[in-house]
Amino acid sequence: MTDKLIIFDTTLRDGEQSPGASMTREEKVRIARQLERLRVDVIEAGFAAASNGDFEAVRTIANQIKDSTVCSLARANDRDISRAAEALAGAARSRIHTFIATSPLHMEKKLRMTPEEVLEQARLSVRFARNLCADIEFSAEDGYRSEPDFLARVVEAVIAEGATTINIPDTVGYAIPELYGNFIKHLRERVPNSDKAIWSVHCHNDLGMAVANSLAGVKIGGARQVECTINGLGERAGNCSLEEVVMAVRTRRDYFGLEVGIDTTQIVPASRLVSQTTGFVVQPNKAVVGANAFAHASGIHQDGVLKARDTYEIMRAEDVGWAANKLVLGKLSGRNAFKQRLQELGVELASEADLNAAFARFKDLADRKSEIFDEDIIALVGDSSRAAEPDFYRFVSLSQHSETGERPRARVVLTMGGQETVVESEGNGPVDATLKAIESKVQSGAEMVLYSVNAITSGSTESQGEVTFRLQLGGRIVNGVGSDPDIVVASAKAYLSALSKLHAGVERVAAQG
Ligand code: KIV
Ligand code: ZN
Repeated sequence: MTDKLIIFDTTLRDGEQSPGASMTREEKVRIARQLERLRVDVIEAGFAAASNGDFEAVRTIANQIKDSTVCSLARANDRDISRAAEALAGAARSRIHTFIATSPLHMEKKLRMTPEEVLEQARLSVRFARNLCADIEFSAEDGYRSEPDFLARVVEAVIAEGATTINIPDTVGYAIPELYGNFIKHLRERVPNSDKAIWSVHCHNDLGMAVANSLAGVKIGGARQVECTINGLGERAGNCSLEEVVMAVRTRRDYFGLEVGIDTTQIVPASRLVSQTTGFVVQPNKAVVGANAFAHASGIHQDGVLKARDTYEIMRAEDVGWAANKLVLGKLSGRNAFKQRLQELGVELASEADLNAAFARFKDLADRKSEIFDEDIIALVGDSSRAAEPDFYRFVSLSQHSETGERPRARVVLTMGGQETVVESEGNGPVDATLKAIESKVQSGAEMVLYSVNAITSGSTESQGEVTFRLQLGGRIVNGVGSDPDIVVASAKAYLSALSKLHAGVERVAAQG
């Protein structure tokens, strides 16, 4: 048993399964680069067999990431495993992660397979995968609700076939820390060849215990890999949150006695990037990455922290990447300063043309906003990155009129598949008029399930507004994010971005279910 805890990030796979959190290939690559800077050990880049888009995303990430192992999920069948191996072919270090459900409920109702058939399929799949890749993870889906004797037989068989990591997920977030920890411990004791593999935990947060369960799996169960996502992103109530697990193990090294290889100063930038990309806002009181996580409002606390900071602080804000908002650039900054700041932020644009487009947006923003912060730059690059994969609907310009006692009117210029068009409407407010104008032409019929507006940098009305729309149509849910100092413009951009994702309409196979 090693004293290192392996951090396996699945933001781009399990996190992305969260309704509305789907990302473009460029967005995924940008997040993968940030995960590499964070020094996660394994990046689960996607599920290559799910769709051509997922395959390309895994392939691109595998070709670009050098310091972390890149992994693809695959169901326990030869086709999925071959697709994963193909997508990972260019990786410096690769892992195939294959899974099959082992709980009585899933085997009978979902797979319609007998336990013996499941055991055989698991065994054959790992044997097949092992011929394509040296690093094989096997997951027993719904493992925590599986019958321990049967699960032990499956695990023993797949280790004998060469699985190097064994993952026991709490797929439905049903576990209780002590019970889950003991479940892993007893399973490891029961499996004769358990020492030939690293044991891993993967917990969902349906009862709000994903982090506690994962830590119990480590402390009581002896697991040495935790599967987690940035901001706890994931289906339903989400996955185990990376930042919480990492900071718990680091802050309480006295208790866990484990090392993590994470560069914790990259945690807050990673959290912001994932939040800005998906539009999933981080709650202010979220541990480690919430805006209030290090804010001391009460006089007694402030007084204590000023006298000795450890009176009320168990972690240092700067250790997880919180820095006072830095004024980075202004309207006199040149292209080189902009390029250098992008490099410092770890943003690599695909081409000189993309850089020029981003710089033009920066100049435009700097004309309207005197101080430009890192968050503004990340949002702005998020916009310009779409140039490589142009949205079907794009914002051009907007004018709107609102006056007390009058119904607001909006006039929007947009492009549809490259063709410019002008639309107009009135509405209950300026945002409503803008959306009605767009809908008068697009007629998407989509249902709006979320509209949220946030200030990108807090503390000033000069901040850019960041708007998220979540739209639902025919069982698909997409998010669109847009930013601008004018929240009506930000709303139009976000709405058009969501409509473009609906228009792209990529079909994919679900990993579970
Ligand atoms: O929750 C789960 O069981 C999973 C597996 C596919 C690993 O995400
Ligand atoms: Zn999962």
